Amino acid sequence: MPKVLVLPEHIASQIAAGEVIERPASVVKELVENSIDAGATQIEIAVASDCRDIRVADNGCGMEPEDAVLAFHRHATSKLSKPEDLWSLRTMGFRGEAIPSIASVSHLTCYTRSHEASTGTKVDAADGTVTATETGCASGTVMELTDLFYNVPARLKFLKKPSTEFAHIHETVQALATSFPKTVFQLVNNGEVVLKTSGSGKLAQSMVETGLMSGKEELCQVTFADLKYGMAIYGYIARPIHFRGDRKGILAIINNRPVRCSLTYKALDQAYADLIPKGKYPLAVLTITIDPNQVDVNIHPTKKEIKYNIGNDVFMAIHRAATEALRVTGAQSDSSAQAAAQPVERISYSPWSAQAATSHTPTAEQGVVAEPSNTKFAASPRNTQQLHFGESLSCVPTSPHLSLTTASKTQLPHRTVTASLPHGWRLLGCLHNTYFLVETPEGLELIEQHIVHERVIYERLLAAQATPGRITDSTQTVIISQSLNLSPEQKAALEEHIELLRSLGFDFDIPAQSAAVCTQVPLELAHKDYACVVQQIVEQLCLADSAQLELEATKSLACQAAVKNGMTLSDRDITQLLSDWLKTPRNDTCPHGRPIRLAFSMDKLFQMFHPG
Ligand SMILES: Nc1ncnc2c1ncn2[C@@H]1O[C@H](COP(=O)(O)OP(=O)(O)OP(=O)(O)O)[C@@H](O)[C@H]1O
Ligand SMILES: [Mg+2]
Repeated sequence: MPKVLVLPEHIASQIAAGEVIERPASVVKELVENSIDAGATQIEIAVASDCRDIRVADNGCGMEPEDAVLAFHRHATSKLSKPEDLWSLRTMGFRGEAIPSIASVSHLTCYTRSHEASTGTKVDAADGTVTATETGCASGTVMELTDLFYNVPARLKFLKKPSTEFAHIHETVQALATSFPKTVFQLVNNGEVVLKTSGSGKLAQSMVETGLMSGKEELCQVTFADLKYGMAIYGYIARPIHFRGDRKGILAIINNRPVRCSLTYKALDQAYADLIPKGKYPLAVLTITIDPNQVDVNIHPTKKEIKYNIGNDVFMAIHRAATEALRVTGAQSDSSAQAAAQPVERISYSPWSAQAATSHTPTAEQGVVAEPSNTKFAASPRNTQQLHFGESLSCVPTSPHLSLTTASKTQLPHRTVTASLPHGWRLLGCLHNTYFLVETPEGLELIEQHIVHERVIYERLLAAQATPGRITDSTQTVIISQSLNLSPEQKAALEEHIELLRSLGFDFDIPAQSAAVCTQVPLELAHKDYACVVQQIVEQLCLADSAQLELEATKSLACQAAVKNGMTLSDRDITQLLSDWLKTPRNDTCPHGRPIRLAFSMDKLFQMFHPG
């Protein structure tokens, strides 16, 4: 058990000063952090009297009598002895402020006994005097306080109602208990156990035991390591079908400390930007280990915030780790079972074949690889288009003004493309030309026609954008082009964002005196009324947040290019689309965050038909 020492003035003055006890939850945070630093494997927190009586008991190392007395003095700590220690913190506490602060606003009593001592010590602090007496007690420490803020009427007045204050305590314990899965935590409110963890040592289990997650979420595991700054990221993020209206489902644990980490929030916002609806936030628990020299927790007295020396690297690492984890496909096809399924032969052109031809499997390193994973889809999109040019789905409107040609240098022989559904999947039909009804081994799936196609196109576009030169392989030159009907503002926006639009596969001729003309469109817009689509994308660009322009333009293009609900598709085209979708990463939701599929298991259907 390290000795408690009063910090010399030159160190004390470097510590972020300020009031640390704002509300009952601050007391709980400070006392539990002390228990953690004391190496406790069991911590019990009990709250009563409208959160003004608090007791935290642990089985940690305890204190010798003289240390227990010193602990009540300002800047008395066993965790820091020289200024450099502030840069290599491995403990939750370091300021030697918490106990004196709590003692100054409540009646605080400490019972403590070290493992080696035969008797314990009781320390009382009343009106500035600290008294110690010998007492019998279990090894470990119990901190017990009553009448919180009895002498600070202003604080008392500003406390929220007890249920709100307890909610803050609950949130505090939830974060700490999740961060320390090996420790058994118990939180009791007015005699009732509200939270209990098993100390299993497993993060996923503690997330559920603390109630941070319900246990029903489908989670993606995050693992990432970067030797450069000894950075490692480990944790779980929920698939995008789960989200909330606030950030309370996000917990960032930096070097074991749960903190509000705006960098983590930002990185997750970006990773989920095209997976969940705007204004919603993901569920995530990320533990980030990093060289303590690279982080500063000494910026706020409550240590709830953190500053990084290498913020950009941390941001990139979190973003990459989350993005990789999210590249799972929600509905997955079983490739071995798929081989056994009845293939549907594909002989006519439809937009899906073009998408399949350019779909790529991402690698951890570059995001995409150069070759399609499935050689049966290896035909180049240009060639696919050219071979079957003129044929199109009956539903797709063709513009009388539009004439497109490809500029292909190579020609592949005509090939038959097959698509099949996974074993146990059967297309039952399409409800009102909008929802595919699919039988699966689990039950029934309803899959929306427009958004399933939207996700397939969107992922293909992203993959193409990430591969140099790839986008130009997926374009169509417009031979007889029509003037675009753009307002002066829209024409200006078109000029401003021309490079962005080129990166999507468009090109334009923009004469100063006359209307702009589109000279090239992405393959997805072959046979579409491209002028209308360009107009919509330009409108989007005028409205979108500048940081998100490329993403928004890509979303817009995918949305415009996707088949609409209400259009009639053949079973063969639906099968092809479903097959492409099953191979598409991140296929739970559309790029705007709507769920693509609704699943009804046989159990769920049974319950619906047999209520009660
Ligand atoms: N539950 C406990 N078990 C063992 N020792 C404790 C316990 N609580 C406090 N101490 C001792 O009392 C000292 C003072 O605690 P206090 O919380 O005031 O400061 P700190 O933890 O060092 O820093 P901070 O103010 O940042 O929390 C600690 O450094 C530690 O040595
Ligand atoms: Mg402390």
